[in-house]
Amino acid sequence: MDFTDFKRRAADHAAGFVQPGMVVGLGVGSTANHALNRIAARCAAGELPGLLAVPCSLSVERAALEAGIPLTTLEEHPILDVTIDGADEADPRLNLIKGGGGALLREKIVAQASRRQVIVVDESKLSQVLGTHWPVPVEVLPFGWGVQSAFLESLGAEVRLRRNPDGATFTSDQGNFILDAGFGPITDPPALAARLDARAGILAHGLFLGLATDLIVAGPSGLRHFTRPA
Ligand code: A5P
Repeated sequence: MDFTDFKRRAADHAAGFVQPGMVVGLGVGSTANHALNRIAARCAAGELPGLLAVPCSLSVERAALEAGIPLTTLEEHPILDVTIDGADEADPRLNLIKGGGGALLREKIVAQASRRQVIVVDESKLSQVLGTHWPVPVEVLPFGWGVQSAFLESLGAEVRLRRNPDGATFTSDQGNFILDAGFGPITDPPALAARLDARAGILAHGLFLGLATDLIVAGPSGLRHFTRPA
């Protein structure tokens, strides 16, 4: 079994939490995409009458429409029953780094609107200390992005402007830039998050603290389900 199988197993398990009539957030990335496919299959089998979904990116919106999942908006449904999403790094307190796919702003809006946030990962994403394996993606307004880059460097990060494979600057669904800020192991994630949250021009960052309620991890020894410690 490889990572793809582990991702699928974690996502399929989480898709089992979805019930008829629920409003569901659809996350972004290869793992969350398995959950989308499983939810679509359950819809097609008639198992989820009345289900509505809010996608976390334009590409997920297209995929959901193609798969026949009925969509809604946060204006029509400001509270979601459950969101299933992936993560780049997850610590034992279920704090996360997200945004490897560049959808962090919409993902965080949807996560904050969700009663239950189920994160699905293969076990390579587990980390004792956030930042050990992954930079923190930071979505910034194109105006003055260099100022934000210097600000992140002043906090100790090694910063890269995210680019597409062709070298062009990556832009988010909102038309913003992403700075990948490598801090190394982050000793105090809430303190760093507070610095980033307070900064004009930073629209979102990939530290998702206190948002995940459930973490489903798949690996060679099977599935593990963690819930957020009190
Ligand atoms: C998207 O912006 C990210 O937050 C993804 O959820 C994250 O990068 C996990 O992606 P994979 O499931 O493809 O590893």
